Amino acid sequence: MHHFGSYEDRVKSFDWKISEKELEYQPGNVINIGWYCTDRICEMGKANKTALLWEGQGVPDRKYTYNDIRLASNTIGAYLRSLGIGAGDRVCLFMDKIPELYLGFLGVVKIGAIAQPLFSAFGDESLFIRLDDARTKAIITQRKHALKVRKILAQMPYLEHVIIVDHDGKKELKEREKPFSLDNATPVEHLEIHPTTAESPSVLHYTSGTTGKPKGVQHVHYSLISQYLTAKWVLDLRDDDIYWCTADPGWVTGTSYGIIAPFALGVTQCVQDVGFSAENWYRFIEKNKVTVWYSAPTAIRSLMKAGDEIVKKFTLTSLRHLASVGEPLNAEAVHWSNRVFGLPFHDTYWQTETGSIMITNFPGMKVKAGSMGRAFPGIESCVLDLKTYEPITEPGRIGLIAFKPGWPAMMRTYWNNPETYKNKFKNGWYLPGDRSSIDKEGYFWFAGRDDDIINTAGHLVSPFEVESALLEHQAVAESAVVAKPDEVNMEVVKAFVTLKRGFDAGPDLELDIMNFIRKRLSPLAMPQEIEYVASLPKTRSGKIMRRLLRAKEWGEEIGDTSTLEND
Ligand code: WTA
Repeated sequence: MHHFGSYEDRVKSFDWKISEKELEYQPGNVINIGWYCTDRICEMGKANKTALLWEGQGVPDRKYTYNDIRLASNTIGAYLRSLGIGAGDRVCLFMDKIPELYLGFLGVVKIGAIAQPLFSAFGDESLFIRLDDARTKAIITQRKHALKVRKILAQMPYLEHVIIVDHDGKKELKEREKPFSLDNATPVEHLEIHPTTAESPSVLHYTSGTTGKPKGVQHVHYSLISQYLTAKWVLDLRDDDIYWCTADPGWVTGTSYGIIAPFALGVTQCVQDVGFSAENWYRFIEKNKVTVWYSAPTAIRSLMKAGDEIVKKFTLTSLRHLASVGEPLNAEAVHWSNRVFGLPFHDTYWQTETGSIMITNFPGMKVKAGSMGRAFPGIESCVLDLKTYEPITEPGRIGLIAFKPGWPAMMRTYWNNPETYKNKFKNGWYLPGDRSSIDKEGYFWFAGRDDDIINTAGHLVSPFEVESALLEHQAVAESAVVAKPDEVNMEVVKAFVTLKRGFDAGPDLELDIMNFIRKRLSPLAMPQEIEYVASLPKTRSGKIMRRLLRAKEWGEEIGDTSTLEND
């Protein structure tokens, strides 16, 4: 029997107190995510249970018990404290998926500091924009990534510490760099956990905006109440599960469901820090006997592409429950997984701002392939008319997804940006910025984003950020960035550029511009295609009309062009 049971019953009797009670949390009391993920599990008698099974590239596997992760996070927390870092300070985690990323996250939140995880593939410019916005006090990183920090260090007087977890003692340390090795540090048995309460800030996750800089989504310790219960009911996590969340904690799935929820539930989770290939993934599932697997459509489409034959080379019978997030999950992918694994992927819909799963196909319920499923109990949801913002009552009509605020993991604000936060609400509804319809049975059918943000391989890329970086290239005069369809990644970045005088449009320049963006921003943000144009379509007020360019890429109707400059 699944934890979830019947949808109707759950909705009828729902109260977030269910989660509070299971976590033995009383409103007003101390609540600290780091403590819940480690100390509490040990106190419950599971100190020797495996918390983390880790596999890296060309190095021995690692295994940590709950007591190990309790000690390691204590040790990191105490070290940060010794540097003068305390409650409310922002500490960036900028690492590959190495154990220190997971342990460091827990150490940071234990001392009441705010964890700011950033994707390790970010280049110096993407990194700078986010550290500068958050006025980050310390960054925990690896040697190879510290090189990117060095490039921008002079511009960041507030960044006091650059902590390097894999310093080999050979190379010289530069200004503000400090070596810290968990292997050499004396384990700290007792750490005074900072007495954070429900509304104390915990995590600051940067997400892309359509216009302007990336936004720091601010979460609080109380988010645990949502994350715990959704993981239990939607991912169906049980005590004896071996859970694999494939997401990187640089993105919200990797923290909410790749650190916080599974550890707070005391399950064993595994992490793989090697390059993607179908063979690597299936081998990993077989080796660890993974039972619950949470992944993303792009990965699933890549596995589909690798073919059915390769699946047969592995014993994957341990798998019990599959879930997916981040992009539309095509019906085909669900049919395929049913065929090859004997199990459907269960779609889940949510976002950095919501902090936890909002809409999903629940375990044990009929999966409607191609639909995102139904709202989590306790979440009041609907779709609003695109123009009037009134709730749509008839089934099947597309509108804006809307949620009544009030669930525990909802962001509390955008860092330093209360204006943008306010604009996310209309008539008392929170609007995540996506379109959907709802069918007669209350299932949501995703219909696209309501803005220009590009969702490539499940990662949001801001066209604005790419356009700004393009303008820094010496050859580029103007640019417009849109999504272009892609079989595996669903969308990829495409740039239209006009060149400055004296530059030759051609493949050499295209490659040069691509590399420029890859290094400054990230491989995800790198345009897969650059189209040289003589001019860009603009509105009368001079705004570039991305909508037109995008429509062309997708072979869609162009629609209303009455505001075009040269109309
Ligand atoms: C999109 C990731 C279709 C959506 C957890 C959302 C989805 C954005 C789905 C959030 C889904 C997420 N079907 N689209 N099941 N899940 N999205 O903040 O546009 O990185 O607003 O959070 O991804 O991306 P974010």
